[in-house]
Amino acid sequence: MSIAIIGTGNMAKGLAGLFSQAGIAVTLGARTVEKGTEAVAALGNGVDASDIAHAVAKKDVVILAVPYDAAADALKAAGDLSGKILIDITNPLTADYMGLTIGHGTSAAAQIADIATGARVVKAFNTLFAQVLQGGGKVGGAAATVFIAGDDAAANDTVADLVVKIGLKPVKTGALKQARYLEPVAGLNISLGYGQGFGTAIAPTWSGIA
Ligand SMILES: NC(=O)c1ccc[n+]([C@@H]2O[C@H](COP(=O)([O-])OP(=O)(O)OC[C@H]3O[C@@H](n4cnc5c(N)ncnc54)[C@H](OP(=O)(O)O)[C@@H]3O)[C@@H](O)[C@H]2O)c1
Repeated sequence: MSIAIIGTGNMAKGLAGLFSQAGIAVTLGARTVEKGTEAVAALGNGVDASDIAHAVAKKDVVILAVPYDAAADALKAAGDLSGKILIDITNPLTADYMGLTIGHGTSAAAQIADIATGARVVKAFNTLFAQVLQGGGKVGGAAATVFIAGDDAAANDTVADLVVKIGLKPVKTGALKQARYLEPVAGLNISLGYGQGFGTAIAPTWSGIA
């Protein structure tokens, strides 16, 4: 198994670090050679980079790690994603990060699924701060929870397996429409972390789910 991550920013680096440490090769899809080179140098073994189209080619699993507002552009650069698992980690944040720009009747994940025709879109990782991922994926000494939502049960299972492989705890929440709930959970996490001053070493979990 090898995966592609579109983006070279904070989340891309956090996820690439966890996957590569678990022995899963990662190719980063970068907008510029400089950004790709810088990210690979920071991450070390098991990670390489190329332009976005080449990064996603021949990969079964692609993680979209760009701002929600850039998703359409990034997906256009990626090309045909039919049949691939596309993990959407985005949150549709307002400019001050203290609100969401869409919700209730839709979600960033639903909008992305509409654009990425034929891709098996799975929402995941959107409720975890990049700092938690870059710190190894533990919160208070326990594996951080990754909430998963998607319409393709096999794709959800594959993502859950990947989450276990990198030492985190998957919680499958149901169909992709559950992203309408998961994106506000991320919004609450951000407002607690930044607005209420609890910092970025926090993460939501759900008591009572083994
Ligand atoms: N940071 C967090 O703690 C966190 C937590 C959960 C979810 N998320 C979500 O994860 C996503 C990434 O966040 P981040 O913090 O990693 O952001 P970031 O550090 O700002 O990185 C964003 C990445 O997206 C790339 N990008 C921007 N516009 C693009 C475009 N039009 N086409 C292709 N690539 C483009 C950037 O490339 P350049 O460097 O070339 O500009 C960069 O590599 C966001 O949707 C965010 O809501 C973030």
